[in-house]
Amino acid sequence: MKILAIESSCDETAAAVVDYKSKKFTVLSSVVSSQIEIHKPYGGVVPELAARNHIVNIMPVISQAVKRSGLSIKKVDRIAVTAGPGLVTSLIVGLQTAKSLAYAFGKPLIGVNHLLGHVYSPLVLNQKIDLPAVSLIVSGGHTELIFLKTLNNLKKIGQTVDDAAGEAFDKVAALLNLGYPGGPIISQLAQKGDSKAYNFPQPMINSADFNFSFAGLKTAVLYTVKKIEKIDQKIKQNIAASFQQAAVDVLVNKTIKAAQKYQAKTITLGGGVAANKLLRESLAKQAELNGFKFFTPPINLCTDNAVMIGAAAAFAKPSNWQKIKADPNLEIK
Ligand code: KG4
Ligand code: ZN
Repeated sequence: MKILAIESSCDETAAAVVDYKSKKFTVLSSVVSSQIEIHKPYGGVVPELAARNHIVNIMPVISQAVKRSGLSIKKVDRIAVTAGPGLVTSLIVGLQTAKSLAYAFGKPLIGVNHLLGHVYSPLVLNQKIDLPAVSLIVSGGHTELIFLKTLNNLKKIGQTVDDAAGEAFDKVAALLNLGYPGGPIISQLAQKGDSKAYNFPQPMINSADFNFSFAGLKTAVLYTVKKIEKIDQKIKQNIAASFQQAAVDVLVNKTIKAAQKYQAKTITLGGGVAANKLLRESLAKQAELNGFKFFTPPINLCTDNAVMIGAAAAFAKPSNWQKIKADPNLEIK
């Protein structure tokens, strides 16, 4: 089954062609046009600017993905598009384009939950994922633990009650005047810092549920920064390392506990923050020590892309495309 997938939920315009045959994925093409440079001066994504740039980029990105796949749109079996969650004006650009293509070429259309894209992204590796599994999804807008009883039977078992993990990285980077997006900058700085220099809180690490909270950790960093008269490079490195360690400890601890409680065989990790080296390495290590298999996709499939939307669409049933609507608050139930 050949799938043309389109993603435009935030500030990346992406398209990909994936083939799913005999339970194996082949990525035929993947194109991602990033708007990071456009939003950088504003310290975050400006929705109106994001939508305008999606409008400019969407057809060239799709055309390039189709061309690189060696196919034509006529040859694809279905079209998949992110329906939510995300910025509504960004979502609409991808969705309306996908609807137009589905209508013009007479193709079935799948509206994909972006978070399910992150959940299914490790499947693209074609390794055997023993089920049940627990999936940690960490992105700029979400932090969720998903239980996969089977590949078609999923439920959310935990989520952040305030800030998302990626949001915390971005806000701490902003506090230190480091630029946007903060995650990659913080993780780079942290490599030269001492993770024990500051004793930041690890909110909800021992709570009985599988929810997360990162607002208190971010505020603790804010109070620390306010007390320091002159923040030099070494202090920045130490704050970055101590903050990153606190955030990663909570994420790893809760994920292992969830996998134990739900008797999972496998742990998977996805979403933009899954690009974080410490998180990848720590979760891989703790999963192994506790007897779980562990999978996370390569970094280009952790940050937003359309391959993962194609992967999720392989497991979905097409519905009447006229009923697929952009839903900025779409959830995994
Ligand atoms: O999944 P994603 O690309 O977009 C959303 O769906 O939100 O995630 C973006 C988030 C941003 O908050 C960014 O700072 C974070 O992922 N991120 C990282 C790293 N790379 C990206 N966070 C920590 N460490 C990284 N290396
Ligand atoms: Zn995402």
